[in-house]
Amino acid sequence: MTFLTKSKLAALSLATVLATLTAPARAEDAATGKQLFMTRTCIACHGKNGAKAIMMYPNLAGQNEAYLFEQMKDIGSGTRVSGPDARGYPRTQAMKDVMGIVSDEELKTIAAWLSTQPPAPVQPGDAALAAKGAKLYDDTGCAACHGDEGMKPMPGYPVVGGQKKNYLVLQIKEIRDGVRTNGPSKIMRPVVASLSDADIDALAEYLSQINHAAQK
Ligand code: HEC
Ligand code: HEC
Repeated sequence: MTFLTKSKLAALSLATVLATLTAPARAEDAATGKQLFMTRTCIACHGKNGAKAIMMYPNLAGQNEAYLFEQMKDIGSGTRVSGPDARGYPRTQAMKDVMGIVSDEELKTIAAWLSTQPPAPVQPGDAALAAKGAKLYDDTGCAACHGDEGMKPMPGYPVVGGQKKNYLVLQIKEIRDGVRTNGPSKIMRPVVASLSDADIDALAEYLSQINHAAQK
């Protein structure tokens, strides 16, 4: 107490009061997930609210929050790689270049926001092929990690029901072939090792027709 004079104490408590008063103002100033998603160019590739992705790019709306964050980090660091796009560049390349302008804090904000967004509407497809895929999904034991209909994954694992078909095909093949090996994806590899391309096509057809929006 001897060193802290009354005026110093008063100054300290004033600082505390000021910090408390200015905290909500700062929170209001902070960019929201939606603003960051637009200003950091994510929207150009992943579409409005992460639910209208272009080409074979993944929809992100309604995805597991922890999973979203890990994938952004892994693509940014080059830990997660992919096969080539139509022009011969790795599909992850253009996004990797963007990740340099986004901080971890911003990525967390974006992931939290995306996980609460309404998922993309279901894509109509081939019912007979989807039925074949549903049987394969059960027989192969995908549900052990991704849950019934790909909708109830284990903590930190991706929701795969309702994702775009062409993206699903690419990911299952690249996990099978050891192209994508980031994070815990390695533990899926033995499960899909003996699947043929035709099996994967049926599985992806089935999963892409699950109505994620209806189950949210
Ligand atoms: C130039 C296009 C492009 C931009 C810009 C871009 N992405 Fe991506 N993103 C992709 C592609 C392509 C993939 C899938 C790569 C693959 O097929 O392996 C992807 C994958 C992802 C994934 C993994 C999804 C999953 O299901 O595993 C997340 C999460 C993601 N992007 C978030 C973002 C965020 C957030 C931003 C903005 C900070 C962003 N992306 C900017 C093209 C882009
Ligand atoms: C032993 C657990 C396990 C099993 C069984 C499993 N997976 Fe996975 N799967 C994972 C993990 C873990 C990841 C994501 C790894 C990561 O975080 O990078 C993943 C990723 C995926 C992805 C990529 C998702 C995205 O958004 O990029 C798809 C698609 C997928 N799994 C489909 C399947 C299908 C279909 C089956 C059955 C044939 C299956 N998985 C069986 C654990 C499993």
